[in-house]
Parts: sequence; structure tokens; C-alpha cells
Amino acid sequence: MEADSAAPLREMWYYAVPGDRLRPGKMLPKQLLGEPLLLGRDAAGKVFALRNICPHRGIPLSDGRFDGSEIECCYHGWRFDCAGRCTAIPSLVADQAFDRSMIAVERYPAIERQGNVWVFFGSSPDRAPPPPELPGIGERVPDLYETVTLPCSIDHAVVGLMDPAHGPFVHTSWWWRQRGSIHEKSKAFGPSPWGFSMLRHSPSSNSYAYKILGGKPETEISFRLPSVRIEHITVGKHTVINLTAVTPLSAQETQINQVLYWTTPVLTALKPVLRPFVKRFLDQDRAVMVRQREGLKYNPPLALIDDADTQARWYYRLKAEYARAKSEGRDFVNPVKERVLRWRS
Ligand code: FES
Ligand SMILES: [Fe+2]
Repeated sequence: MEADSAAPLREMWYYAVPGDRLRPGKMLPKQLLGEPLLLGRDAAGKVFALRNICPHRGIPLSDGRFDGSEIECCYHGWRFDCAGRCTAIPSLVADQAFDRSMIAVERYPAIERQGNVWVFFGSSPDRAPPPPELPGIGERVPDLYETVTLPCSIDHAVVGLMDPAHGPFVHTSWWWRQRGSIHEKSKAFGPSPWGFSMLRHSPSSNSYAYKILGGKPETEISFRLPSVRIEHITVGKHTVINLTAVTPLSAQETQINQVLYWTTPVLTALKPVLRPFVKRFLDQDRAVMVRQREGLKYNPPLALIDDADTQARWYYRLKAEYARAKSEGRDFVNPVKERVLRWRS
């Protein structure tokens, strides 16, 4: 394996939750990158993320109360605003001078964009690649969201996701493709911001999933650090976006967020049947990761072959380069070069 470590990249935005999961006045505790977060939306509608630990005695703040503007700890009633500043310590008597500004809950930068909430892990969000801006949909919110948690590190989740050769073996079904339909493919790739893209092309003719779109669909698939894949399909004047955002919950658990947007009415009509298909697809990935975990327990040496695993190699190189550039305080230099990859799937 070319990776030096399965640790997730720091100084990066990660997908946290779909925006509609955060309701004003409600708190959502969630572990991301092994850290305990408290996600919420304030009375003005703005999303926020705090460390879900009371700085007094360590109780999860999510066990307390939130009135839309302040969070009250359930243990001694200390209160914090949505930026983590301490606003009240009920045990203080009137003449006790205590500088509350010394007390704060750690705050994570959080942003809501096109109906998704992204959280930043690191110290310089302004010097990191911003969360992706999905093309062709404006400020539209997701039409469909599904998720699955895989029992593996972020690297195995990402590599499994971008792996073109597992499709005919893992994702066999009448509506996607069958093992007998394997054929040789040749796709042109090139560098794109913080990652690489499979350049715009007409998708594989052995996929029923594309056929239902009608017309002549064209697709461009891009991957960008830390762990985001965007498939941008156009059919005539319509757009379909398939965003896959991978976020580690811990060192051994990784969440896949599958977010679909479309402007085509065909898919709106098909939505009730589409959802189980998306779920089934994700469950197939999960099932194979559960099996892979059995072998990985023994920490075996692994192989990456040309060309089917070249995208995985690029991922490890991109990740290593980003970490190196950050530690050396220099600009990121994309290591991916234009190339045609060929494989059978
Ligand atoms: S532990 Fe939170 S107020 Fe004391
Ligand atoms: Fe898969």
C-alpha cells in the first residue's frame, strides 16, 4: 500500500449531514473524524458545530438543552452561545468577579451549501479547498439522500468507491449490470482541482440506470480531496448530480453520504423506486467491506495494479501531497497527469 497512514487529512472540509437534519432549537450529536461534535442550527437559521463536551466537567453538551440561541449544560447549567462562548455560570454570586471569556467550547467552522452541511477540521479554513460547489443546480437542495456506514477506514472506503473493477461482481443486478456484460473500457482522465476527473463522455451502454434518463446522457466524474466524488450528468437541458461524500466517523468506521439532485421530471416520478435502488447499491458496498474487514484484521500486504487501480494510486498520492504541502507551508501541486486508463468491467 502506498499510503503511509489511514488517518484522514486535516485542514479539510468534510461532509457532516444534510441540512434538513438540523432543525432550529434541536441538537444533533455526531462523531466525525473521531471527534465528538454537536451540530445545530441557531434561531436565525445558521448552522454551527461545537465540540460536544462541556468545558466545566466534560459532560456531552447534547445532554442538556438548547433554546435556539443558547445551550445549557445539564450538570451545572453553564450556558454557551452557538459560537461556543460562555454566557452564564449560575453558581456565581453577584459580587464574584469571574472572567467568563476564559471559558469556551471549541468551535468548528461549519457551512451549509446546496442543502449540505460541511464542517472544517483544522486551523486555516481560508487556506483549504472550499466545500464543492455542485454545477448546474444553483441553490437547489438534495432530491434524494441515502447513507451507509462502512466498517473500514476512510482510505478503504474511498478506494472501494473509485474502484471500477468491482462493479460486475459486487453490484450485479438486472437494473445496473450483469457479470456477463463485462467489456473493455477506455476512459480519458486528467487532473482537476485537488483531484482528477474522468473527462466528459457518454456513459457505458451496459447500464440500465442511464437508459431511463432518455436522450443522450453525458457524464463527467470527478474526485477531489479529501473524499468527494461528483458525477455530473447532462441530458439535453437537464442536470443530474450524484454527489458521494465520504466522511470517517472514527478510525474504523466511515460514512458514505449519497446525495442526488436532478432537474429532470423523469426522476421525480421515479423517486419512490429510486430510493431502494440507491440503498441496495450502498448495501452491496457495505457487505463487501464487512468481508474485507475479516482479511484486513491480519494487516496483509495489498496490491494496486495498473490501470484498474490507478485511481486508487492517485488518491494516495494526492493525499500524501496535500499533507506534505501543508506541513511545508507551500502550495499543493497536483501529481495527476493526463492519461487514458483501460480496464474490463
Ligand atoms: S459540567 Fe457542564 S456545567 Fe458543569
Ligand atoms: Fe461500489
